[in-house]
Formats: sequence, C-alpha cells, structure tokens
Amino acid sequence: MDDLRDKYIGLIAAADSEAALEDLRVQAVGKKGEISLKMRELGKMSPEERQVAGPALNALKDEINSALAAKKAALEDAALDERLRGEWLDVTLPGRTRRMGTIHPISQVTEEVTAIFADMGFSVAEGPQIDTDWYNFDALNIPGHHPARAEMDTFYMHRAEGDNRPPHVLRTHTSPVQIRSMEKTGAPIRVIAPGRVYRADYDQTHTPMFHQVEGLAIDKDISMANLKWVLEEFVKAYFEVDDVELRFRASHFPFTEPSAEVDIRCSWEGGSLKVGEGDDWLEILGSGMVHPKVLQNAGVNPDEWQGFAFGMGIDRIAMLKYGIPDLRAFFDSDLRWLRHYGFAALDVPTLHGGLSG
Ligand code: PHE
Repeated sequence: MDDLRDKYIGLIAAADSEAALEDLRVQAVGKKGEISLKMRELGKMSPEERQVAGPALNALKDEINSALAAKKAALEDAALDERLRGEWLDVTLPGRTRRMGTIHPISQVTEEVTAIFADMGFSVAEGPQIDTDWYNFDALNIPGHHPARAEMDTFYMHRAEGDNRPPHVLRTHTSPVQIRSMEKTGAPIRVIAPGRVYRADYDQTHTPMFHQVEGLAIDKDISMANLKWVLEEFVKAYFEVDDVELRFRASHFPFTEPSAEVDIRCSWEGGSLKVGEGDDWLEILGSGMVHPKVLQNAGVNPDEWQGFAFGMGIDRIAMLKYGIPDLRAFFDSDLRWLRHYGFAALDVPTLHGGLSG
C-alpha cells in the first residue's frame, strides 16, 4: 500500500495537465483502478486482515482523491496566472486621445471669472443680445440725446415702415442685464453677467463683437469699500498673484454715481506683463455706485437699497493673462491659432483645482 501511495502521489505531483490528472484518477480510483481492484480483494481476506486493510485502503483512496483535487486547483491557478500574464494591461497608460478641438480662450476666461465670483457668492445672470433701447440706454439713465449713445457706435436693428415695436439694438454693453436682473429678483442681489456685446468699431484692439462681464451687488449697506475688496480679490485670483495694487480713477458713467475706472499696477519689462509690480498702470474696468435712477427704473427703492456695479472686458483680460497680442485673432477661427492659445477640453477651471491648469 505504501508503494501504491508513493507511486500515485508522485505521479499526481508530476502531472502537467488536467487530462493527465484525469487519466491518473481512472488508473488509481476509477471503477477498474488499482485501488478499486485492491478493495475487491478485501472479500477474500480473513476478518482480521480486512479490519486492518479496509480502513487503510479507504484512507489511501481519500488521500489520492484530495491530492487529485489539490493538484487540479493548482493547475487551474497556474492557467489563470498564465492567462493574466498574456492579457496584462497597464491601465495607467494615457488613453489614445483623438484631437477633439480646444476650448477657446474666451470660454476659458469666462469660466475662470465665473469660478472666482461664484466663490464670492455671485450667481450668473443672462440677458438678450438684441435688446430694446430702453434696457440698453434709457433705463441706465442714458436718455436719447445723451452723448454716450453716440460714443457707443450702436448697431440699430432695422425697422420696417409701420413697425411700432420699440427700437431694438445689439446691446452695446452688459449693463442692461443689471436692469433685467433687478426686475426679476429685486434686492438684495449679487450677480455677474458675462456675454457678447456689439459696437461698430474695428482695429487691433476693437472688434464689432466682443465680450464683457457685468457685476452687480445691491444690499442695504454696500459701499465703494466693498467694491474695492471684491475687485482686489478678483484680480489676485484671476492673475494668480498674491498681491495687487488697484488705482481708482474718477470717471463718468450715466448709470453710476460716483464712477471710477480701475487700473492695476503692472510692469511690461522684457515684453511680458507682470501684475502687481512695476510702474505701469493698466485699465481693466469701469465701475461705480449704482445711480438711484437706475435702481428706480428697475423697480428697486433707492431709499432702501444701494450697491455697486462694474463692467469689464473679457477679451482684454484674456489677452493680458495669456499674452495674446491681437484681439481680432480671437474671432478669425484659425485652427492653428486655436491650437496654440486654446485649452484642453474637460480642463474646467476651479479655484481649488487651479484656474488655468
Ligand atoms: N457699461 C460700461 C461700459 O461698457 C462699464 C460699466 C459697467 C461702468 C458698470 C460702470 C458700471 O463701458
């Protein structure tokens, strides 16, 4: 019996396939296998012999069966390992990307600006690009004869004879969204309104369509100090610098009183812009305390509420941050330009994840 055990345990250990194992099983413990034949011989033994040989044979049969099962499992494991080695895949490799176009710098900067102001509690408001002259001018305290109308190089929509709808214009700024937002939600309010605006002008720094972002904050006790803080926070976050210096220059807009144009300290040394140092000043926006007449025109009581507004050129701050020399290139749809200045899709700017990637 020991010989039998040694033989089969050795053969099972050496078996290299499931088929070989199956052959061994038949040879050893199959119906006509060696162990089974031995068991048949039990009948011819004396009861004393049988009492010793019976349990020993059963034990041997069990031992061989478990050796077969263990070897089978080991062979299966080895087969799986082998397959996994063959099918190994490095899931950390970058995917095969197809060029899907790029995010236009204007879209990128709009997202950046939105992320920064959202962090300060501003939500995003929208208005139509074709608006009435009431929203674009009159409601903003720019009456018909006001020189600001002429300065804005307004595109007027054609009106057929007999059409007595109010005159429409392509909005010349995002300020009409101030009126529309206050009409919609009243005060208090804290919104920005990014979007397209239009003026009949074309040279290296002017295109007939460009982009602004309006800001509006109205509450019981909002002052110029709040405006200054908000703009400083914005400029630091946007240009990704720790310190900035803003200069408020007295100015005039019919819809704010007092009004200020805001410049930031910068240097152009070596041909590239550095914000927060140097001796140059860069104008980036117009702003002021919302004129009481504007509040009134939007249905907000100026005896109760006050606040600030500002309007900033998105294209301009995009050119400054990303070193883009000619505004007109923004709108040429030149793929080589877009590949150079564009941003990766899905690279959404956030304050915690980094604005410009
Ligand atoms: N609408 C002004 C412009 O286009 C900018 C501005 C907005 C100024 C809000 C003051 C307040 O030049």
